[in-house]
Amino acid sequence: MKKILITGGAGFIGSHVVRRFVNTYPDIEIVNLDKLTYAGNLANLNDIEGQSNYRFVKADITDSEEINALFREENFDAVIHLAAESHVDRSITDPTAFVMTNVIGTVNLLNAAREFWKGDYDKKRFYHVSTDEVYGALGETGMFTETTAYDPHSPYSASKASSDHFVRAYHDTYGLDVVISNCSNNYGSHHFPEKLIPLAINNIKNNKPVPVYGKGENVRDWLWVEDHARAIDVIFHQAKTGETYNIGGHNEWKNIDLIMLLCKIMDEKLAREPGSSAKLITYVTDRAGHDLRYAIDSTKLQEKLDWVPSLQFEEGLAKTVDWYLENEEWLENVTSGQYKKYYEDQYTER
Ligand code: NAD
Ligand code: DAU
Repeated sequence: MKKILITGGAGFIGSHVVRRFVNTYPDIEIVNLDKLTYAGNLANLNDIEGQSNYRFVKADITDSEEINALFREENFDAVIHLAAESHVDRSITDPTAFVMTNVIGTVNLLNAAREFWKGDYDKKRFYHVSTDEVYGALGETGMFTETTAYDPHSPYSASKASSDHFVRAYHDTYGLDVVISNCSNNYGSHHFPEKLIPLAINNIKNNKPVPVYGKGENVRDWLWVEDHARAIDVIFHQAKTGETYNIGGHNEWKNIDLIMLLCKIMDEKLAREPGSSAKLITYVTDRAGHDLRYAIDSTKLQEKLDWVPSLQFEEGLAKTVDWYLENEEWLENVTSGQYKKYYEDQYTER
């Protein structure tokens, strides 16, 4: 491999994947394609932007001409596709944006790979980064495996499920070498503060209410983002063509228990009276169609490719809080302007 296109590399997970590949593989040229939507931020890559094997291209995956031109000019050996609209609440207010980027954008990339990699499919690889949300919701027991039937409920998960189906269809129909991974909830540095953990950190820091949907009983399975990036690296290099891997940390938390732990950590880090951050918890109207529980069975990844998560959640959460407290400027930059408008629309009418 000489040149890899990573899409969505200015976002939360994408920036960790770009950083890992740029630092680990100095002989591979990494091209980061990103539209820089509200969620894309080149400051996420400050530490590696000067490296000789890294390049940024501003482009929109919904623009097929732009994507085809790029594939025509560059001889990519592989694509690692992360660009997406990723926030469930935004998908409830604007589903079409999710169809455009997550479905049409993915199909545009697949079409370009199909066209420009013709005759070389066995030497190329299309890696599609997906989510556990495509499997729907679990009750009190059970876990998602790679063979769990798709049952998406939100416009976001429906769009990701659709993109997964297209990726598999291009493997089955045209013989494109594809790999898919479905990961559980990530947490860590550079996470946009519309998502639960960074939003709660930001609000606690600023003594603002911490909104918990419904009764806070929904369960998510949290994974340190750098462990996700490492799993992508391992799967990208070792999976057989057409394979799917689930990625998760066996780390289930009820939202309210997670928020209570976060409040305790924040009290300690901010030297506040024990229990003071928890007073900010505010129960708000539940998310429409809110999936009760996600839990990933990553046995296949652990047994076949020897991947295991590296961090315990309490340690990872404390490190995450430290990062946000040490990077006030980053937080201030991303919470100005459009974010403020989004926040008002999402939370004030309840
Ligand atoms: P994010 O919202 O932080 O980043 C998405 C990136 O994609 C941004 O940089 C944005 O500018 C870019 N982008 C959006 N639309 C684009 C377009 N039309 N053209 C080019 N670039 C565009 O998302 P994330 O949380 O980092 O998620 C990355 C991927 O991982 C997504 O595919 C998501 O479905 C998947 N995923 C996320 C999680 C999670 O917990 N965050 C878990 C499993 C899977
Ligand atoms: O499971 C993987 C998915 O995890 C990814 O595919 C998505 O891109 C990513 O956004 C994430 O989706 P969730 O909806 O699980 O994440 P979010 O941080 O939005 O919410 C986590 C839980 O917290 C969920 O049960 C909803 C709840 N929540 C969220 C917000 C933003 C609240 O209680 N209050 C909030 O203000």
